[in-house]
Amino acid sequence: MNILITGSAGFIGYHLTKKILNKKIKVIGLDNINSYYDTNLKKNRIRELKKNKNFFFYNLDICEFRKLNNLILKKNIKIIIHLAAQAGVRYSIKNPRTYFDSNLQGFFNILEVSRLNNIKHLIYASTSSVYGDTKKFPLSEKDSTDYPLSFYAATKKSNEVMAHSYSFIYKIPTTGVRFFTVYGPFGRPDMALFKFTKKIINDQSIELFNNGNHIRDFTYIDDIVDGVFSLIKKPSKKSIPYEIFNIGNGSPKKLLDYLKYIEKNLDKNTKIKKLPLQVGDIVKTHSNINKLNKFTGYKPKTNIKIGIEKFIEWYKDYYRVN
Ligand SMILES: NC(=O)c1ccc[n+]([C@@H]2O[C@H](COP(=O)([O-])OP(=O)(O)OC[C@H]3O[C@@H](n4cnc5c(N)ncnc54)[C@H](O)[C@@H]3O)[C@@H](O)[C@H]2O)c1
Repeated sequence: MNILITGSAGFIGYHLTKKILNKKIKVIGLDNINSYYDTNLKKNRIRELKKNKNFFFYNLDICEFRKLNNLILKKNIKIIIHLAAQAGVRYSIKNPRTYFDSNLQGFFNILEVSRLNNIKHLIYASTSSVYGDTKKFPLSEKDSTDYPLSFYAATKKSNEVMAHSYSFIYKIPTTGVRFFTVYGPFGRPDMALFKFTKKIINDQSIELFNNGNHIRDFTYIDDIVDGVFSLIKKPSKKSIPYEIFNIGNGSPKKLLDYLKYIEKNLDKNTKIKKLPLQVGDIVKTHSNINKLNKFTGYKPKTNIKIGIEKFIEWYKDYYRVN
């Protein structure tokens, strides 16, 4: 069965595509290579993936329904893993329309092509941000997600709600995966690990919102990829074939401790500028991963010490830092 991965030039899309290709499965990748962050990173990820003969890439925007539908028809796609989205909480404060376009209109197109092409399983990325400002931890799939703090979270919550209606009416098996702060090699330059590493190497000070008191369930990319991979052949068999899973590490860390590991690894200290809590930011995330564990046996393997080490190794090699 042919698999389409949207957002395959992105951080998670790249790693997931690589894993599936390694299993000798053909992957059709799609991405509009937008300039939210350095497009060279995205192009290099695609260049890397294209070394495998089973990878076929299309530069396409999911907002272009006709092109998207033609691709799915032509390639006889039966499984869609939808990762393309405008990501990032903070960017959504100043640029909500971008989120509306890619995450709502784009997601609607994904649902429509799933309906029209008899898709056997649609897996799509959601986020821990849907949990909003809660005091009850760890966060489980049954907890409320009715009060998103950012428009980014609102679009992802909407995706889950939209997917439910398609699973109910058209019986399309959909699985939403709520990722918890993903990090690792070839990661996103707008996220903490990448930003901190770059600044420490360049002797620049680091801004820490919420005075550095954020707590995050940092999850290593390979664990995220394993979690998604374990779900591909497991579409819901329920009468409404709809599922939601957390994919996290289950062991939250203070952002300040995370920063300390980075400093230790780079053997360099940095100046910290503490700033107040940024609107839209969630103070703490901590995933309960029992549901996915029961369903597929999912168990995260990489702790932040090893994960950070692997990222820094990649960073130094990629940017040729001594
Ligand atoms: N990285 C995380 O910590 C994290 C956490 C929670 C959820 N997520 C979600 O996981 C998914 C993947 O995230 P990522 O970290 O790899 O982000 P990313 O930005 O690296 O990847 C997203 C990719 O989608 C592409 N894209 C965006 N809009 C598009 C459009 N309209 N048409 C076609 N392609 C488009 C981008 O060019 C990019 O390459 C996203 O849906 C994101 O919201 C990520």
